[in-house]
Amino acid sequence: MPSTKAYTLFLSPLFSPSLPVLHAMSGLMLLSLIPTVLLGFSVVLSAAELQRFEHAAKADGSLSLLVVGDWGRRGAYNQTEVALQMGIMGEKLDIDFIISTGDNFYEGGLNGVDDPAFYESFTRIYTAPSLQKQWYNVLGNHDYRGDVEAQLSPVLREMDSKWLCLRSFIVNTEIAEFFFVDTTPFVNKYFLEPKDHVYDWSGILPRKSYLSNVLEDLDMALKESVAKWKIVVGHHTIKSAGQHGNTVELNLQLLPILQANNVDLYINGHDHCLEHISSSESPLQFLTSGGGSKAWRGDVAWWDPKEMKFYYDGQGFMSVQITQTEVDVVFYDVSGEVLHKWSRTKQISSAVL
Ligand SMILES: *[C@@H]1O[C@H](CO)[C@@H](O)[C@H](O)[C@H]1NC(C)=O
Repeated sequence: MPSTKAYTLFLSPLFSPSLPVLHAMSGLMLLSLIPTVLLGFSVVLSAAELQRFEHAAKADGSLSLLVVGDWGRRGAYNQTEVALQMGIMGEKLDIDFIISTGDNFYEGGLNGVDDPAFYESFTRIYTAPSLQKQWYNVLGNHDYRGDVEAQLSPVLREMDSKWLCLRSFIVNTEIAEFFFVDTTPFVNKYFLEPKDHVYDWSGILPRKSYLSNVLEDLDMALKESVAKWKIVVGHHTIKSAGQHGNTVELNLQLLPILQANNVDLYINGHDHCLEHISSSESPLQFLTSGGGSKAWRGDVAWWDPKEMKFYYDGQGFMSVQITQTEVDVVFYDVSGEVLHKWSRTKQISSAVL
């Protein structure tokens, strides 16, 4: 039944005409604007900087998706087993798309568009029919150790049309809006103490204006969003008891924006675990799905049990199901066993204004 629909959805983001149209329009506006109205229109221009994709929800208005992170190891460290269970669960939940929280290719991203790792760690691994949907990928710090442009390149989309990776972008499904944020450039240590790693910073320098643009565009897009559920996705943790722990830069710069705009979920990878932290100061939930391959690090820090809802040090993935009134999050292990569930309901009356 859903196969035709799935196929349309799956193609539509790739061929969405909205972007060129927007750009053309903003160019025209800019030319014809008199300075007094320039301010009013800069809102439009600035919000247009985050690339935007429309991805229709199901006919009944609901949406379901899977989230996996930190995965590309040519099938090793249970990557294949996780992929298999994702395929089974993807079928069961009739998923609309898949989110990857980054660190797509270990150890050092892709070294070009013809790097065989793309086939060996992605195309050849996620083979289940239910996973042949649109993947929305962000970049992780390991991806920045390779050729970043390669992962962003349309050439990969030609090789495997389910692939889509961008730095920061928006996927709007009406019922929920997903804001993908490129978090690696926020982290000071990659710039100050890169050790023997070489990061590909082309395209993000000067860093200061890159970061302030990302934050400004995100803030603007969140403010303009009329979606009932707002979900932000990045590679790095905001709050985590795992090996990497909290990301200080994101706590200082990103978290206040999420809280001010009533974001419901922050979803990340980076720590190779499955984790759910809820904060006592806001309804925002911190969900880590970084168990796509190598895990079992064994170094979990203490966390206030009032906030720590769930921590699993091994491999697995997460599903998110969304309706007008409810979000359901479920974590699964490498054999598909349910490890943790969380739900939130919102009344219809508090919906779209
Ligand atoms: C694969 O998963 C099983 C079950 O959780 C675990 O016992 C095993 O250590 C994992 N293998 C690796 C290499 O992490």
